[in-house]
Amino acid sequence: MNRLIRQLKPYPMEELNRIKASLKERGIKIYDFGTGDPKEPTDQKIRKALIDAVPEVSQYTSVAGRAELRNAISEWFKNRFGVELDPDTQIIPSNGSKEAIFHFPLVFIDTDQPEKNKVIFGTPGYPVYERGTLYAGGMPVPVPLREEDGFLLRLDKLDKSLLQETKIVWLNYPHNPTGATASLQYFQDMLGICREYGIILCSDECYTELYFDEKPPSALQAGIEGVVVFHSLSKRSGLTGYRTGFVAGDPQIISEYRKGRASFGVATPDFIQKAAEVAWSDEEHVEKRREIFRRKRDIFLEFFDKIGLEYLYPQATFYFWIKAPEGMSGEEYAKHLLQYGIVVSPGVNFCAGIEIMENRCSSDYFRIALVPTVEECMEAVRVWEKAHSEI
Ligand SMILES: Cc1ncc(COP(=O)(O)O)c(C=O)c1O
Repeated sequence: MNRLIRQLKPYPMEELNRIKASLKERGIKIYDFGTGDPKEPTDQKIRKALIDAVPEVSQYTSVAGRAELRNAISEWFKNRFGVELDPDTQIIPSNGSKEAIFHFPLVFIDTDQPEKNKVIFGTPGYPVYERGTLYAGGMPVPVPLREEDGFLLRLDKLDKSLLQETKIVWLNYPHNPTGATASLQYFQDMLGICREYGIILCSDECYTELYFDEKPPSALQAGIEGVVVFHSLSKRSGLTGYRTGFVAGDPQIISEYRKGRASFGVATPDFIQKAAEVAWSDEEHVEKRREIFRRKRDIFLEFFDKIGLEYLYPQATFYFWIKAPEGMSGEEYAKHLLQYGIVVSPGVNFCAGIEIMENRCSSDYFRIALVPTVEECMEAVRVWEKAHSEI
């Protein structure tokens, strides 16, 4: 096995998993706020489009994807962000954003250039930026995101020598796991630095549509050259199982990436593309989803204020990033809640693998994903309140 990957052990969760298994055995009701995969039904229109698209004869599809889907994405992007994208040269459909994020450094890291092989990303964060970098033979550089910076990755605070050696920067706003959002000014500032140092700015934007107040911007509003964005229908339309998203941006990078992707076997099935076309062309189902997440969010805003837990006010995403009570780590509090059937993710789950290997990983935080139904959320806060009073 690839040595680097073998060394990257996941954070040891055995104890939490053991408690969860024993609760199940004892028939205790579990409220799972751990994994970010909500259970709301997929909109009927999208399901029907998929079923109607299943062909009598099945043929290979192309990496470039269907023109109709790229047109629908281009139209959506223009309406949502005010940026015109050429559907032929600036958009590639992907099988969700995970594979697209993972494969990106495989195309853009040149292992013959160790002086320009670093990939910067924030921590806590989504683990695939690091994994993709390692598989591609690049050098991951996790940068701690700080509360005082609003959990924004601040390239302006990094050493110039590091930036000179960096090929790719991953930004992810709205952010998993903290729910932090970024302004257009922030993207403009970060793009200025990336351009100065010849860095590709990759912006993972899969949560832009789950907002509660202001609409989050896209990095492509700051500029096209040197920028690539990753979008997904997983969160926007609740299509995690369909595996569909897109990559868009700088036409030169998109052209090279499309060439590279021809090797990976990631051409999206036609019937998924037809369902995706319907999903990108409809906002009504997204508005309904936002409303559901808003109701769940409001239940927890009220609850955390009542019991006095500190959290980052989520302006987008379906996550809350919460500080464990004074004197406890996120993991200790998660373990305590678990005894009552409440599953949350300790902050250490979002450390980079390198930080875990080097024992640089600790966290006073934990994350909840607003996955259970509104009714289950209301039930869960009653159980949680009792658990909290018995610390
Ligand atoms: C920050 C972030 N990026 C990307 C993804 C991948 O989503 P998908 O591959 O379903 O589009 C996730 C999934 O949870 C995520 O949290």
